[in-house]
Amino acid sequence: MASSNLLVSLFILQVLFVTPTNSKLFREYIGAGGKNVSFPDVPINPNVDFHFILSFAIDYTNASSPSPTNGNFSAYWDKENLNPSQISSIKADHPNVKVAMSVAGDSVNGQFVYFSPASTSSWVSNAISSITQIVTEYNLDGIDIDYEHYNADPDTFAECIGQLLSYLKENKIVSFTSIAPFEDDSVQPHYLALWKKYGYVIDYVNFQFYAYDNGTTVQQFIQYFETQSSNYEGGKILVSFGTDGSGGLKPEDGFFEACLVMLATPCHEIDLQYQV
Ligand SMILES: *[C@@H]1O[C@H](CO)[C@@H](O)[C@H](O)[C@H]1NC(C)=O
Ligand SMILES: *[C@@H]1O[C@H](CO)[C@@H](O)[C@H](O)[C@H]1NC(C)=O
Ligand SMILES: *[C@@H]1O[C@H](CO)[C@@H](O)[C@H](O)[C@H]1NC(C)=O
Ligand SMILES: *[C@@H]1O[C@H](CO)[C@@H](O)[C@H](O)[C@H]1NC(C)=O
Repeated sequence: MASSNLLVSLFILQVLFVTPTNSKLFREYIGAGGKNVSFPDVPINPNVDFHFILSFAIDYTNASSPSPTNGNFSAYWDKENLNPSQISSIKADHPNVKVAMSVAGDSVNGQFVYFSPASTSSWVSNAISSITQIVTEYNLDGIDIDYEHYNADPDTFAECIGQLLSYLKENKIVSFTSIAPFEDDSVQPHYLALWKKYGYVIDYVNFQFYAYDNGTTVQQFIQYFETQSSNYEGGKILVSFGTDGSGGLKPEDGFFEACLVMLATPCHEIDLQYQV
């Protein structure tokens, strides 16, 4: 068990990471599904690194029948609550807060979002330019990759996303990157191909443990964590739960018990705030 490397990622919720040096990370996907949540709604523990992840930037047209734009991204999160001046304020008020954007997500206007590059080079070039523009406009610190449907093979996905993340980090456009895979026969091969070739530019694996079945037990949860730690070998795997109707292991069913079991003894204290 990777007990020295336990992270917690919570869906419209958050993440905690405890290392031997006791650094802790808590992340929350905010603005997903058109939820009306503003930054001040979320309690921020001053003693952890805290990431808000704006959900989502999507490379689709905004129409009743949206179509893919080959890497030309627009911000689709709630812009009333999550705009550049509110981002500046929350960062100024909380020095431990950083803000990232998540790319793609499940759907747009009721239709699945597919990863649909016309070619690797054209997609990467459009993605670099549109994402750099969004990062600058919103003063963002990081990027999360959350494609869940694909019109391209795993190697093409790995190459496009790997080249994009490499560019963004090498040019210091973002300071951290993450990916959000989940257990699925179509999803995992894409992220595993990416991890194999470009894992060194990926700082966190926000594994979607809330995408497992509702009714996941503590023992199953621990086993899933071990499986994914071995799949994404050497990665910082974040544990997670959902505060919406998603599955997995919820706090009331033993999420924190599972975390404590996974942490090295003597237990690090987990002081995690979350909202339901
Ligand atoms: C969002 O919440 C705020 C504060 O609770 C409220 O004033 C506003 O009307 C809500 N907006 C929408 C679109 O529901
Ligand atoms: C990208 O999309 C925006 C609208 O969202 C549009 O204004 C812009 O021209 C597009 N850029 C390219 C290079 O197609
Ligand atoms: C998409 O279009 C709808 C309807 O015109 C609009 O309310 C919404 O703000 C648009 N979203 C984006 C991301 O442009
Ligand atoms: C999940 O399972 C619990 C009991 O096992 C049940 O009470 C709850 O309604 C279920 N939630 C969903 C979203 O299916």
